[in-house]
Amino acid sequence: MTGAASGIGAGIARRFAREGAWVVLADVNEESVREIERDIRRSGGECEAHKTDVGSEREIAELFRRVGERHGKLHILSTNAYWAAPKNAVDTSLEEWNRCMAVTLTAPFLCSKHAVQLMRVTGGGSIVHTSSVGGVVAFQNNASYMTAKAGVIQLCKSIAVDFAADGIRCNAICPGIIDTPSTRSDDTEELRRLRMSKTLAGRYGTPDDIASAALYLASDEAGFVTGTAMMVDSGWSII
Ligand SMILES: NC(=O)c1ccc[n+]([C@@H]2O[C@H](COP(=O)([O-])OP(=O)(O)OC[C@H]3O[C@@H](n4cnc5c(N)ncnc54)[C@H](O)[C@@H]3O)[C@@H](O)[C@H]2O)c1
Repeated sequence: MTGAASGIGAGIARRFAREGAWVVLADVNEESVREIERDIRRSGGECEAHKTDVGSEREIAELFRRVGERHGKLHILSTNAYWAAPKNAVDTSLEEWNRCMAVTLTAPFLCSKHAVQLMRVTGGGSIVHTSSVGGVVAFQNNASYMTAKAGVIQLCKSIAVDFAADGIRCNAICPGIIDTPSTRSDDTEELRRLRMSKTLAGRYGTPDDIASAALYLASDEAGFVTGTAMMVDSGWSII
């Protein structure tokens, strides 16, 4: 589970641990990921935390090497880490573009690559990448983010068709507005009005709303679901 130290990733990690999964928490923020680890263990869950920068191919390979060595298998992959420069295409520097692609798109690709190999050991698994409503519809001033998130959706389809015979399903979740530290960090009154106008539930979503979708997609209940982009956006994409 990447991006496991905060917001949606932490919500999914907590939920999966409550459901009995052994959760491998990976995040670049070591202090916070250790805190989530302690929290899950205090609640009786089983997990281990790793400081991993998913912008680094080497660190991703090391994470999966350790998982392989300790557990020898993997049933579920959930990716949540992201990096974005909230800018239009003209204002986005090549460095910002490349950083966004590395963390938001290349990391899910690399994690999938390693996960597929571990999942094959036990005859299959479920990959759930957190994309975004921004991978489907347009936001202003989010050129790199929208492009990376759209790429994640196509990545899921590619893995779904290539590894179905290995018993592997791969799906994306596209959250709308979710109450997380990253949302709170830029939630001006104007933006909040815009976000609420796109959200039929009349409230922001919670990490647990996304965890419910992730749990379903990860489970055998979703055995007939692969290559999809599940909108968990309270209508944002249809308004
Ligand atoms: N919050 C929303 O409204 C919303 C909406 C749509 C999609 N999403 C997606 O959900 C996911 C989680 O978003 P969130 O709002 O919970 O964010 P968040 O900022 O609360 O959490 C993101 C986590 O990713 C970690 N991270 C960032 N860069 C990393 C790196 N290089 N290596 C490892 N970990 C790294 C951070 O340390 C943090 O713990 C993202 O993919 C985001 O695009 C969020």
